[in-house]
Amino acid sequence: MKTIALLASPHRLKGNTAGLMNFVIEGAQKAGAETEIICLDGHNVQACNGCDVCHRNGTCAQKDAFEEIKKKIEQADGVILGSPNYIFSVSAQLKAFMDRCCGIVHCLSFEGKYGASVVTSGGGGDDPIIQYMNRFLLVTGIHPIGGVHATMAALPNGEFTEGIKNRARELGADLVAAWREKRTDPEVTMEMNAFRKRMRELVFWKKEEWTYEYNLWQNRHEEIESAKASEDQRL
Ligand SMILES: Cc1cc2nc3c(=O)[nH]c(=O)nc-3n(C[C@H](O)[C@H](O)[C@H](O)COP(=O)(O)O)c2cc1C
Repeated sequence: MKTIALLASPHRLKGNTAGLMNFVIEGAQKAGAETEIICLDGHNVQACNGCDVCHRNGTCAQKDAFEEIKKKIEQADGVILGSPNYIFSVSAQLKAFMDRCCGIVHCLSFEGKYGASVVTSGGGGDDPIIQYMNRFLLVTGIHPIGGVHATMAALPNGEFTEGIKNRARELGADLVAAWREKRTDPEVTMEMNAFRKRMRELVFWKKEEWTYEYNLWQNRHEEIESAKASEDQRL
């Protein structure tokens, strides 16, 4: 299993989030995953400028590191997101990346992959951020399997406890297990199906302008219809 770990802290590999993420990676590697960490802070991923070019052409008009990172994710089976809690949300580095994925969200283009989220904070309140990050994974088509977080102020001597380390390692191992067994969670499937329907309607509404996305949805429709036809023939 190829896994990309997107780390969105300005402290990069020396920060708390990297520290916690490393235990997730350790668990994933022990379970057989190949992992690569990408520090968003070290890459130039500018904020989305809302030009809509990705909806028309399938690629972003901005010439920075975004497309390269997108390709790496396309070629991977798993994604681990890591962010510090910045004012009840993710860091600006991660938010910029998320916004640049607008075209991916319209087409759920990362479908078939599995993901998990990692958050650290000074004082807590991380659950809603994990949920937000996992919802982002879901709307790109990635099946989120869970998350792990740590409140630094609550840790003895600022060290991760064995309990937190183990939760992180287990999350990494579970990510690999979910991918191996092609796990589906009925709630995730239901939410993803509802979102897919919404995006299809949105793209069809904008079909004159968002030609790339419209063609993609059209082809998908034909694929589904021909799969249905061959299933009918088989029966
Ligand atoms: C700009 C900024 C905003 C922050 N906002 C919060 C916050 O809202 N709640 C909180 O508990 N900690 C907050 N923190 C603390 C960080 O989340 C915490 O130190 C985190 O572990 C840093 O991770 P890192 O070392 O990977 O960058 C903030 C820190 C910064 C620099």
